[in-house]
Amino acid sequence: MVDGSVGLVAAGRHRSPAVPEVEQLGPRLRELRGAHRLLDTMNDYGTLKPIADPIPADRQAAKRHYGVHPYFTRRPFNVVRTYVLHYSREGDRVLDPFGGSGVTAIEAFLENRIGIQNDINPLANFIAKGIADLSKGNHTDYVAAFESIRDRSQRGLRDIEGKSDEDVRQTGGFRGRFEIHAEDIDDLPGRIEPVDYIFTDPPYGGHISYLDLSTLWNVWNGKPPTKKARERELIVGGDLDLSEDVYVKRLEESIRTCFALLKPGRWLSVVFQHWSVPYFDAILTGAASVGGDLRAAISQIGDPIWSMHKKKGNQSVLAGEMILTFLKTDKPKTLEIARPFDVAAAVSRILDESANGTIYGEYLFNRIVINAWQSGALGSLDISRTAFADLMEQHGWTYEETAHRWRRHAAQQTLLGAL
Ligand SMILES: C[S@@+](CC[C@H](N)C(=O)[O-])C[C@H]1O[C@@H](n2cnc3c(N)ncnc32)[C@H](O)[C@@H]1O
Repeated sequence: MVDGSVGLVAAGRHRSPAVPEVEQLGPRLRELRGAHRLLDTMNDYGTLKPIADPIPADRQAAKRHYGVHPYFTRRPFNVVRTYVLHYSREGDRVLDPFGGSGVTAIEAFLENRIGIQNDINPLANFIAKGIADLSKGNHTDYVAAFESIRDRSQRGLRDIEGKSDEDVRQTGGFRGRFEIHAEDIDDLPGRIEPVDYIFTDPPYGGHISYLDLSTLWNVWNGKPPTKKARERELIVGGDLDLSEDVYVKRLEESIRTCFALLKPGRWLSVVFQHWSVPYFDAILTGAASVGGDLRAAISQIGDPIWSMHKKKGNQSVLAGEMILTFLKTDKPKTLEIARPFDVAAAVSRILDESANGTIYGEYLFNRIVINAWQSGALGSLDISRTAFADLMEQHGWTYEETAHRWRRHAAQQTLLGAL
């Protein structure tokens, strides 16, 4: 019998010859304990309960200098921070490959992680670095306080120095770091080490041509983007008239790339919103094909922060976003997506759940997309903005321009109230 554990029991029974055997077992046991710890760590991440509710945006309370710039589609820092804190740990590597003005990497860095910012737009990285530097300034006071405490507690410090990295981490010393990369997302593999969490917000099709709109600032800053970067920007249209077909393929590919950059058993959150079902399909199919298991789909909708278009009262413009969170498993799936799907029935079901007779169009649309995906029918879901509005009206709902949401007709409300 060569099994180590049996040997160990035997050694206990016949005392004297046991010592060398136990010594031999030492490295094996250490190895096993190490593997056990590794498994524990992986399991800990894997058993996390996903964030299940929307987080009210708190842009006004930002004390992190985000207000110094108007970069496009800036995400509310408190929402990003909550996700980073939930899905990663101190010392972890947290990446945003479509980093924009850097909220993910900055929040990660401020929370003792290694914040990794990447963006193809030099302006985005310029802003991100500027804010990170300002935020580092905030830490000067902490560093000074820490140093003074250190001077007064040398004995305790010697104690700490004798401990392992993991033990030191428990003492809460500031270990945040900030890295910047300026790559096309597809060039990131091989250039950065695997990461522990990704929170990202890819461009939403043709809504914003980031590089075109940043030309003045990039030239002024002495960093005009290369032709290759302009061709690789993940958008539809722009000055180069980039095609939608290529966008959809590359969106799917970029999600696969994210999973390639992520360690096994870790989490990935993607922020997205659009009226296009194929765009959602690209994200969901791309993730499933490389083991991304969708664990949460949260609509961050109804915040008082609306886009300028939305403020004009146009119900066809989407505001808010959905945060899709996946766990990286080792089980890639090719899912059926062409089963039939009854949109009208799904809309009725969701509208019936609305207790107070009001609903945000974005919330309803997101629920339908996820329902269709979970029923293996996303490929059959064919709904345009106008068809969506028509369907709402057929169900007896009216769009309220000022509140930016749909309301059940008063007559229906009364009828339902009487039931
Ligand atoms: C929706 S924005 C991200 C905004 C960000 N969440 C923030 O809070 O500022 C998407 C970003 O992706 C960048 N981008 C577009 N194509 C890219 C590509 N191929 N590789 C890397 N970044 C890209 C754009 O420059 C833009 O800054």
